[in-house]
Amino acid sequence: MVICGVESTCDETSVGIVENGMKVISSVVSSSSKMHEKYGGIVPEVAAREQVKVIIPVIRESFSEISLKDIDAFAVAYGPGLVGSLIVGVETAKTLSTICGKPLVAVNHLIGHVYANWLGREETLPEFPAVALIVSGGHTDLLLTDTHGSFKWLGGTVDDAAGETFDKVARLLKLKYPGGPGIERISLHANKKNSFYNFPSPMINSGNFDFSFSGLKTSVLNTTIKLKRINTSQVAFEFQNSIIKVLVKKTMIAAKKFKAKSILVGGGVAANQELRDRIFQESEKNNLKCFFPEKKFSVDNGAMIASAAYFNFKKNDPLKVQATPSLFF
Ligand code: KG4
Ligand code: ZN
Repeated sequence: MVICGVESTCDETSVGIVENGMKVISSVVSSSSKMHEKYGGIVPEVAAREQVKVIIPVIRESFSEISLKDIDAFAVAYGPGLVGSLIVGVETAKTLSTICGKPLVAVNHLIGHVYANWLGREETLPEFPAVALIVSGGHTDLLLTDTHGSFKWLGGTVDDAAGETFDKVARLLKLKYPGGPGIERISLHANKKNSFYNFPSPMINSGNFDFSFSGLKTSVLNTTIKLKRINTSQVAFEFQNSIIKVLVKKTMIAAKKFKAKSILVGGGVAANQELRDRIFQESEKNNLKCFFPEKKFSVDNGAMIASAAYFNFKKNDPLKVQATPSLFF
C-alpha cells in the first residue's frame, strides 16, 4: 500500500510517499526556520503564510517520480501544532483525498514521530512492548505501546519541552534558532571530564515519568547574569548533559518497569548525537533494542505521517477531519 503523508504542523511543509510503512519513495521537506531566526523562535503568522506559499511546490516535487493514481491513501498530521500551519496541510490532504477518491487517515503528529523509526528499515524492526520517548520543540512525552494502534501516555513535561529548552538556552548563548544543533556543535569543544557550573537535572528522582525543564533554563540564565565571563561551550555542554541525564534515566526506568523489548526515540531532539550515544549505551547494558530515526526523519516530515497511517490505518471522513491544535493522545 502506497500512502502520501502531509505534514504542516509547525514550520516545516513536507510530503512523503511511503510504501508499506517503511519504503520511502519520496520525501520533500521545506522549512521556514530561517525566517524565524531573527526572532529567536517561531512566529506563527509567518510560518502559516509560508505553508500556503510552498505546499503546492512541495507536492509537485514529491510527485516527480510517481503519479497521483499510484497512491492508495492520503494521510495528514491534524494536530497538535499551530492552527494556521495545520489548516494548510489538513485542507490540502482533504482535497487530494476527495478528488482522487482515496481514503484519508488523520494522524497525531506525535505518533508520527514514533513511526519515523520504521522508515527505511528492512530487517531489524522494533519489537513490542516498546517505550517511546518523543522529544520535539513542543513536546516531551514518554509512551508505552504494546502493539500498533495502542499508545499509553506515561508522562510528559509540566512546563517547557526539551527542544524548546534547547532553543531558549541557545538564545541566551546568542546562538541562532533552532538552538539544538548549535548547542550540540559548540558542546564538542567543552571539557567533558569536569563540571564547572553544576546545573540541575530537575525531577530526575521524582518517581514518575514527568519532566520539568524551566528551572534548568533559569539556572543557565542566572549563571550567564552572575558570571561576567562564561565559557559558552562549557555551559552548552553541561546544560545538554543535564537534560540528557533526565531523559535517559526516565526512559530506562519506564523500559524496565513495563518490560519493554524496544526503545523508540523520535522528535527533533532525537537528532542529538550525545542523546543517541547515551541511550544506545544504556540500552545495550539492559539488553534492549534501541531505535532512532535517520537524522533527516527525526525532524518534522511527511514520510513519518504516511508510516503512522499505514500501521494504524483508520479511514476518516474527509469532510469531518479538522485541524486540532491541542490534540493529545
Ligand atoms: O520535531 P521537531 O522538528 O519539531 C517539533 O515538532 O517541534 O523538533 C524541533 C526541535 C527544536 O527545538 C530544535 O532545537 C530541536 O528539535 N533539535 C535539536 C537538535 N536538532 C533539532 N535539539 C538538540 N540537538 C539537536 N541536534
Ligand atoms: Zn515534530
